Amino acid sequence: MNQLNLDSSTISTELKSRIAGISRSFALDQINLFPEIRYMGSKRRLLPWIHGVLEGLDFETALDPFSGSGAVAYLMKAMGRQTVSSDFLNLSATLGKALIENNAMHLDGPAIQCLLRTPGNPTSFIEDTFKGVFFNPEDLRFLDRMSWNIRQMENPHQRALAMAVLIRSCAKRQPRGVFTISGNLSKYDDGRRDLQLSIEEHFFEQVRIFNEAVFSNGRHNRAECVDVFKVSASDVDLVYLDPPYVPRHDDNCYVKRYHFLEGLSCYWQGLDIDYSTKVRKIPKRFTPFSYRRQAVDAFERLFEIFQSSKIVLSYGSNGYPDLHQLTEILAKIKRDIQVFKRDHTYHFGNHCNVKRAAVEEYLIVGQ
Ligand SMILES: C[S@@+](CC[C@H](N)C(=O)[O-])C[C@H]1O[C@@H](n2cnc3c(N)ncnc32)[C@H](O)[C@@H]1O
Repeated sequence: MNQLNLDSSTISTELKSRIAGISRSFALDQINLFPEIRYMGSKRRLLPWIHGVLEGLDFETALDPFSGSGAVAYLMKAMGRQTVSSDFLNLSATLGKALIENNAMHLDGPAIQCLLRTPGNPTSFIEDTFKGVFFNPEDLRFLDRMSWNIRQMENPHQRALAMAVLIRSCAKRQPRGVFTISGNLSKYDDGRRDLQLSIEEHFFEQVRIFNEAVFSNGRHNRAECVDVFKVSASDVDLVYLDPPYVPRHDDNCYVKRYHFLEGLSCYWQGLDIDYSTKVRKIPKRFTPFSYRRQAVDAFERLFEIFQSSKIVLSYGSNGYPDLHQLTEILAKIKRDIQVFKRDHTYHFGNHCNVKRAAVEEYLIVGQ
C-alpha cells in the first residue's frame, strides 16, 4: 500500500495537477468528436495548439463572437468554461445552438420519427428555387421535407441539432462545400464518397455523428446571432477573437460562399433572394473587417469593447493590418502582450485552381 502523504499543500498540488491532467485529456478527446464543416478560416486543425495557449490563462467565462463553424467555442466548452458563441450569420448561430448551448438534447427515437413524417402540408420552395442550380430534385425534395419537419419540432435544441445535421449534409454533398458554383458539377466529381451519397444518406449518417458530439460541461452556455459590435456578453473573463481579415487574394465574403446554408438555416425567411443570379444569392453582410480602409478602426473599436476581458486574437501573417500594427493597437488597452506563432497551410483560389499557401498563424494574447 502506498504511504499516505498528509502534507495538505502537497496533496492539493498533486490533486490539482491530476485534475488538470484529466481535464486536459477530456478536452483533447472531446474536440476529436467535433463535426467540422468546411468553413473558410476554420480553426479546427489548430485546436490542440489553441488549447495549449488557453490552458495557461486563468478564466471561467469565455466568449467567441466570430464563432463561424463553432470549433473554438466547442474547445472552450470542452475545457469546462461557461461559453457564449456568437456570429452575425444564422448558420453559425445554429451550429452554436446545437453544440455549444445544447448540453443534453439528442436526436432520439421520437425526434427521428418526427423528422421522417410526410408533411400534411408539403412545400416545394427549395425544389422550385434551386432546381438545376444545386443538387438533384430528390435531394431538394428531401430538404423541403426536412426543413418543414424540423420547424415542427418543439424543443429548440433538437431543432438546432437537426438543422446542424442538415447543414453539414449539404456542405458534404456540395463540391468543396461552397455554393459559388452550380449546374452540372460533374467535372468536380473526383469519386469521393461524400459526392456519391444522397443528402438523405448523409443526413442519417450525420445524426449519429452529431449525437456523439453533444455533451454537457455542467455550465449554462449560450449561442447568439448578433453582430460583434452589439454583443451583450462583453463582461466575460476571456474573449477569443477570430475576425475575417482583409485578404490579399480573392475576397473573404462568407455569404458568397455559404448563402445556401445560411438560407437553409432559416428557410430563407426574411432573406431577399436575388433571382437574377445563377446561384440565387442573398444580400452580403457588411463587416468593416473586410475593408482595408476600415479595418484598423474596427480593431480599435473591437478591443475597446473587450478592454476588461483577457483578449486572445487569432490572426495570420497574410492579413491586414499586420502583426506589428495589431500589437500596437492592442497595447493601447493591454499592458501585457504575448505573441504565439505557428506555421499553417491554408487553401485559396477557385475550384479549378486551388492553391496552398504557407502562412504563420498568430495568437496574440493581451491581459
Ligand atoms: C475567420 S471566421 C471564424 C472561424 C471560426 N473561428 C472557426 O474556427 O470556424 C470569421 C467569422 O466572423 C463572422 N463575422 C464577420 N464579421 C462579423 C461581425 N461584424 N459580427 C459578427 N460576426 C462576424 C463571419 O460570419 C465568420 O463566421
